[in-house]
Amino acid sequence: MNKSSLDRILQSQGVGTRKWCRQLIEAGEVSVHGEIVTDYKRSFETSGLRFRLFDEDWEYREFVYLALNKPPDVECSRKPSHRPGVMSLLPEEFSWRGVQAIGRLDHDTTGLLLLTDDGSFNHAMSSPKRHVPKLYLATTQDPVTPALVEHLLKGVQLSDEPAPLAALRCEPRGTHQVEIVIEQGKYHQVKRMLAAAGNHCAALQRIAVGRLTLESLALQEGEWRYLDTAELALLSTEAA
Ligand code: URA
Repeated sequence: MNKSSLDRILQSQGVGTRKWCRQLIEAGEVSVHGEIVTDYKRSFETSGLRFRLFDEDWEYREFVYLALNKPPDVECSRKPSHRPGVMSLLPEEFSWRGVQAIGRLDHDTTGLLLLTDDGSFNHAMSSPKRHVPKLYLATTQDPVTPALVEHLLKGVQLSDEPAPLAALRCEPRGTHQVEIVIEQGKYHQVKRMLAAAGNHCAALQRIAVGRLTLESLALQEGEWRYLDTAELALLSTEAA
């Protein structure tokens, strides 16, 4: 059981500042279970709570876990400087509630990006100890050769790394594409691994994180949605 006052509940859901939430409640813009509530101090059990604000239904969520099919030319950094940030693709309430990307994709990398406001989950997913495999589809400038695949599987030495980094799996897809699975999330890792193995990455798409695939999410580029419990379980490293 977790009870909270209505102004705090609205604020936690990303409606805006506490002051703004109080003003909305006092103006009669918020109803709970069909009843307009104008006392912002009134408390409600948060679990399963639904409220209505400006004719829109909201469902209380302690944390949100999102998947976005990231388009190109969008930055994952918290303070984007040269291009729009990923948060500009999501409803404003997610910025208010502190949602952040789990790890980063380069501005020109497309595909599966996860986001959350659950700091512990974000930390755990980003931890190198967790070994969450990430599957990328890389389009190469030069043809993919058996030697390239072998090199990536054996490990390539990147300039600022103490030891070679190897792909967990590496399979050619046609003449100029290769699927690469890596566990770590080092800076420009896939592009640098391909360069160190003698090719060049012309385009990069992340197509799975753990056992959660972009295909199963059926998101068009730029689209997002909430992950359900079964989808979240696909991100754990334990077998299904
Ligand atoms: N590796 C890269 O080089 N770039 C990404 O965005 C992700 C992995």
